[in-house]
Amino acid sequence: MKLSERVLSLKESPVRKLVPVANRAKEAGKKVYHLNIGQPDIKTPKVFMEAINNYDTDIIKYSFSYGEPVLIHAIQDFFKRDGIVFSDKNILITNGGSEAVTFATIAVCDPGDEILVPEPFYTNYNGFTGEVSAKIKPITTKAEDGYHLPKKADIVKLISPKTKAIMFSNPGNPTGTILRQDEMDMIAEIAIEYNLFIISDEVYRGMAFDGLEGISMGTIKGIEDRLIILESVSKRYSACGARIGAICSRNEELMANILKLCQARLCVATLEQIGAAALYKLPQSYTESIKNEYQKRRDIAYNALSQIPGVVCKKPTGAFYFIFQLPVEDAEEFIVWMLEDFELDGETIMLAPAEGFYATPGLGRNEARIAYVLNEDGMKRAMYILEKGLEAYQQIHR
Ligand SMILES: Cc1ncc(COP(=O)(O)O)c(C=O)c1O
Repeated sequence: MKLSERVLSLKESPVRKLVPVANRAKEAGKKVYHLNIGQPDIKTPKVFMEAINNYDTDIIKYSFSYGEPVLIHAIQDFFKRDGIVFSDKNILITNGGSEAVTFATIAVCDPGDEILVPEPFYTNYNGFTGEVSAKIKPITTKAEDGYHLPKKADIVKLISPKTKAIMFSNPGNPTGTILRQDEMDMIAEIAIEYNLFIISDEVYRGMAFDGLEGISMGTIKGIEDRLIILESVSKRYSACGARIGAICSRNEELMANILKLCQARLCVATLEQIGAAALYKLPQSYTESIKNEYQKRRDIAYNALSQIPGVVCKKPTGAFYFIFQLPVEDAEEFIVWMLEDFELDGETIMLAPAEGFYATPGLGRNEARIAYVLNEDGMKRAMYILEKGLEAYQQIHR
């Protein structure tokens, strides 16, 4: 029996593929500081479980395919804070932001179609587009430019008759970059000129540092019919396991068709939607508090990394990641070595190799992504272990 070319061509997630190596390190008695995955250690706000506990029902029924109204209304109010108005039909609840990306891709691409994506990009975009045999056309961004977009002329030359959309996460995973207003305006301009959809992945929105705001694409006028915004409770509300996200667009034809995909998978878990509604109702002060916490962690990680000889990184301004160059040839080999062969008083760290965040072959080989999702003490200790590990690795690999 032969498996499909589609599934065979998918790549393993670089964030998760080294998990068996980490598990072996743990079985051998090592403590592993996980800096490889965006799983925050911040407590999920109590309102999540309270709302579920107060939900009075005898039967856990199927939810509506489009989602629970209480959650849809809470998301509408969340966007209204920024003057962005979505009707009930403009929001569909999904199984995490992941399903929102998948549905957006299925809805806009036929097999062989292309989506422009600034690279390095959230590595699972490869999986989501691969599932529908669409292709990512990378817009390469560079560390020295803070991973900001190149000039319009460099972007439009990548557009072909097969290009259907431009997709990006803002704030960026894995770069931590926040798009400037002029970049957002440029994306809108290109999308209008070349008749493309804009898939704006805003699952980290609000997590912006150094006084930056991290504005939604939804604030830009004139792109209402082509804009698809992706949402999630995973990161902002530290609720990754709830698996609640949303796809939001004012293009009613698009949403009516995505609803068919929602119906085909029946619905999203009922109780988690009830909990998620309470999260979206949290005041702005909640986002401010987590933002301050992540800014502190960003400073610890960035200050420590930028002092390690041979490490090259730019200060990121959002989300809770950044990508940096290591003074090694092959970052994946170093990461595996840290897990298998290195320990400092029984402890080691795990990073994500960055090659899988690029579509252009060869890029990112000596880079890693760090997720600064540990508390201040954990981050300080992890950075110290990294520094000592690198010293030891370089001694061996001279
Ligand atoms: C940019 C981006 N989009 C979407 C997702 C998917 O998140 P979830 O499916 O947990 O909502 C992630 C998760 O790491 C992400 O980093």
